[in-house]
Amino acid sequence: MAQLERAKFGSKLGVILATAGSAVGLGNVWRFPYLAGENGGAAFMLVYIGCVLLLGMPCMVSEFIVGRRAQANAARAFRMLGGRTPLALVGYMGVITGTLITGYYAVVSGWCLEYIYASAAGHFAGAGPAEVSRYFADFETDPVRPIVWMVLVFLATHWVIVHGVRDGIERASKLMMPALFILLLIVVVASCLLPGAVRGIEFLFKPDFSKVTGGVFLSALGQAFYSLSIGMGCMCTYASYFGRQTRLGSSAMQIGVIVILVAVLSGLMIFPAAFSVGIKPDSGPSLIFITLPNVFREAFGFAPVLGYVVAVLFYVLLTLAALTSLISLHEVSTAFLHEELHITRRRAATIVTATGIVLGGLCSLSLGGREWLTLFGRPLFELCDFVTGQMLMPFGGILICLLVGWYLPHKLVRDEFTNWGTLPGRYLRLFVFCVKYVCPICIVLIFLNQLGLL
Ligand code: PFF
Repeated sequence: MAQLERAKFGSKLGVILATAGSAVGLGNVWRFPYLAGENGGAAFMLVYIGCVLLLGMPCMVSEFIVGRRAQANAARAFRMLGGRTPLALVGYMGVITGTLITGYYAVVSGWCLEYIYASAAGHFAGAGPAEVSRYFADFETDPVRPIVWMVLVFLATHWVIVHGVRDGIERASKLMMPALFILLLIVVVASCLLPGAVRGIEFLFKPDFSKVTGGVFLSALGQAFYSLSIGMGCMCTYASYFGRQTRLGSSAMQIGVIVILVAVLSGLMIFPAAFSVGIKPDSGPSLIFITLPNVFREAFGFAPVLGYVVAVLFYVLLTLAALTSLISLHEVSTAFLHEELHITRRRAATIVTATGIVLGGLCSLSLGGREWLTLFGRPLFELCDFVTGQMLMPFGGILICLLVGWYLPHKLVRDEFTNWGTLPGRYLRLFVFCVKYVCPICIVLIFLNQLGLL
């Protein structure tokens, strides 16, 4: 099969920042706090960290191996390496999963844009928790505004995607990631200094293990996969842009640490403030959108101008973090269409953008309580999140581990893991043990438990 000339990330830092840019996004800052809030706080966080390290890391390295070896989009990569087994279809499943996430992810990214606008225009000035909640509920269910923002988000993503891997994705990530981190730290300090913040800190760090149920495990597992962007061919696609010298194991560990750190910081940003102003930690997807304006108002009461600047900057950076993730989601389908249908990158991107806008529009409208957009008792928005995050991604993870642990020749795995023998490969045996046994068994157990079969 003729190999297409593939673009590459330009530097080691570029690799880390682009992959971390994909991983760090709304998943850590928006999704993690609300899931932790619904699932008991500290206990959820511990299970989540365990899942990232024990199950997420081996899956991520496995995806890297598949992507770098195949040098192709996710669908072709798994087809090339999966032979005549059903594992050859994992990449197609990934493209479908990615498309389902892209739509509603762009909707939430659009919410961030609304918040840049609302805080810049001073709409939250002097608004108490009840008013902020009402503002969000009105906005979220509006049939037009969230969709306009969502379309804008897609246009920005489209622009980066058509500018290609190195100039678009890498350059964007290099700038946004460090800035987000610093702003996050500032807001954490502000939130923790609020009166009564200690209860929120305890909620996040004092585990109550009686809260740990099968459902908590499944949510934490899904969140680990979601926040690492694994189980759906995204990291595999990015790894196809890695050079031969990229260290797969240590890159995965660095991303894992960054992702955990951002999640914990996001928890520290939200819960102290939520407890301080009396917002319930289990408010669901609206949690950060109703908590944050209160942090900016209360914590910066002594200098409202500073609060104003920090608020606007924060939403800008959150939007940028969301964009780097959305770019990676978009890239999975764009690379797929570009390479499989032999159409230009621009045309492939246009198809993905158009599909995303339609799906995102439906997801957004589903929050307005429309019957025809409610399936299995859940609005389409929630359904897409649940099916992808808690089912398709962990399931994809099992299949990827089975491919790398049981099907691929050991020499191929060793070569990729040790960069053709130039690295010591100290953790190779541990890695192989995890992908062969630990990951598939643990994920299956969590699924069975959730289905009530265990
Ligand atoms: N990891 C991203 C986040 O936490 O926001 C979400 C995501 C991006 C999931 C890319 C999957 C993916 F392929």
